Parts: sequence; C-alpha cells; structure tokens
Amino acid sequence: MRVLSGIQPSGALHLGNYYGAMKQHIELQHGHECFFFIANYHTLTTVQDAARLRQLTSDVALDYLAMGLDPAKAALFRQSDIPEVTELAWILATVTGKGLLDRAVSYKDKVERGIAASMGLYFYPVLMAADILIYRSNLVPVGKDQVQHIEMTQDMAGYFNNTFGREVLVRPEPKLNEAAVVPGLDGQKMSKSYGNSIEIFLDARTAEKKIKSIKTDSTPVDAPKDPGACNAFALLRLMATPEETAEWERRYRAGGMGYGEVKKRLVELYEAFFGQRRERRAQLAARPDEVEDILRDGARRARLVAEQVMHDVREACGIVTVR
Ligand code: ADP
Ligand code: TRP
Repeated sequence: MRVLSGIQPSGALHLGNYYGAMKQHIELQHGHECFFFIANYHTLTTVQDAARLRQLTSDVALDYLAMGLDPAKAALFRQSDIPEVTELAWILATVTGKGLLDRAVSYKDKVERGIAASMGLYFYPVLMAADILIYRSNLVPVGKDQVQHIEMTQDMAGYFNNTFGREVLVRPEPKLNEAAVVPGLDGQKMSKSYGNSIEIFLDARTAEKKIKSIKTDSTPVDAPKDPGACNAFALLRLMATPEETAEWERRYRAGGMGYGEVKKRLVELYEAFFGQRRERRAQLAARPDEVEDILRDGARRARLVAEQVMHDVREACGIVTVR
C-alpha cells in the first residue's frame, strides 16, 4: 500500500495545518510506504517570486523534518525534481474532457478570492492527478477540500486505461484527515487567510501572547462552563492527554475555574511540544546541505517508480522514446 500526499509551500504552518494534516502524514510513515512531496509547481499558480518560492519550499522541508518525518521511512522530495509528473500531466490532459475541469470547485473559489485565472490554475487538477498516478499511489491523505480533486484523479485514471485498453494507472482512494476543524483565535476555522492562526514554530513569548488572546466568553469564574463552546478547550484537547482533557472537562462543568487557567496550561503544553521541535528546526536550518541531501534522496526513490510508470504509459499510448 503506497501512501502519497502533496503539501503546498504556502507559508508558516499553524495548528490547523498540523492537527488537520501534517500529524496524520507523519503517523502514516509507520507501517506504510510513504511519499510526501512539496508541491512547488502548484504553488507557482499563486507565488510568482523566485526568492520567495525557494524560501517557502525549504521552509516546508524543515517543518516536516522538525516535526518528525523520518527520511529513512518516508520519501520527502520536491514535485519539480520528478520531471515525469509534468510529462504525465500532458498525456492525461489529452484523454480528459474539458467539462471535467469546468466543474472544479477550487478553481472557482480561488478566482473568486482574486487569484489570477491562469491556464495553470485551471490545469491544477490535471497536474495533481499526475502527481498521484505517477507513483501508482493507493491512498491519498487530504483535507475535505481536496476530495473532488481525488475523484477527478480516479476519473482520469479510468479515461487513460479505457482509451488505451490497458490497466496502466491505479485508482487511488482519498483518506480524509479525521481531525475536525481546528478553530482559530476568533473561533472561526484557523486559516492563514483569516489572520487568526497560532503558528507551530512561534518563539515562546509570541506563542504566549497569541494563546492569551484566544477569544472566550464572559462567563464569570464561579459559573459552570460549556467546554464544547470554548475555543481554548478545543485546542487543549488536541494537545493534552485524554486523561488531562477529561479532568479539564470536569472542571469546566463544575465552575470555579477561569479561562485564564486553561490558557496558562495551553501555553505550557504548546511550549513542551512545539518548543522542542522549534529547536530541532533551528538546528536543521543551520545544515541546509543535509536537508538538500534528504530531498535528493527522496526524489531518487520516487523517481525509480515514476520512470517505470512513465515507461508503461508511453508504451500504452505509442509514444516512442529513445533513452
Ligand atoms: P490555510 O487555510 O491556512 O490556507 P491550507 O488550505 O493551506 O490552510 O491547508 C493545508 C492543509 O491543512 C489542508 O489539508 C487542510 O485540510 C488543513 N487545514 C488547514 N486549516 C485547518 C483547520 N483549521 N483545521 C483542520 N485542518 C486544517
Ligand atoms: N492541492 C493540494 C492542496 O492544496 C496539494 C497537492 C498537490 C496534493 N498535489 C497533490 C495533495 C497530490 C495530494 C496529492 O492541499
């Protein structure tokens, strides 16, 4: 069973990204063959500044490694280091009806948000399908917003196999990240674009300031409180053990506890978990050659598969190559 996912390098990761996506990625490395790549070609649809894209790309690599991705287990690499991906994307485009792409919800959403309606943005789902199919991936862990793209990938695999009469491409299945939506400081979904994030690599003081600014209601200290309606509790349950969470739940309902206490505990939990990893990230950032070696080794492993699949694809559709 091969697991694959792509991560857009689009800025500092926050608790929503970690608990909603990255944590499951890292856990899957135990027990599955895992490929994780940095989707820099996809990000080129929104970031068109060379220095910034380079920086964002190496930032994601550092983030994943610092959070525990083990390069001996999972292959971590840049999308752009596997040229077969863009080659396959073209071939998939030739068997895919334009109507399929017209139905893509994320294209419409992005254009509504002001992102340039480039051909690249329109073509995004085809490139994503190539990312997945080039490794004969079985399972693709993603958030809900990406499920339509995986369904389109399943369709494209079918179009190719039917057109050329061979089962060359493997149908992938989405695996939904089970973590519910992580709320931000204001209680809305935590998101970079809402300015309500708690990033995962904040220095201790900034983290404390942010955590203290989590919006809570004005229930007096003495009164019982509803843990289900509290943003601070929603974050606490992600970071604390189940036993500790249960104890806080009891204290909420009993009354006599202020939100300040919960936030204080959140600050401690944040620092105990992310503080250590922040150090590890700083150490890795000081050794860029080592990180580059990890990415190259990941690309080498991924490419062994990509070359084989691309060979089968070319053969199935009659593209003659001299190699
Ligand atoms: P953002 O909304 O900050 O731009 P992205 O859309 O880049 O985040 O999300 C990257 C990954 O993180 C996706 O898999 C998404 O499902 C997950 N994710 C982002 N925000 C949250 C959240 N608040 N709760 C749960 N998962 C999230
Ligand atoms: N589109 C995905 C996102 O925005 C990133 C991505 C690109 C991806 N290629 C992929 C995810 C292939 C899974 C598989 O989050």
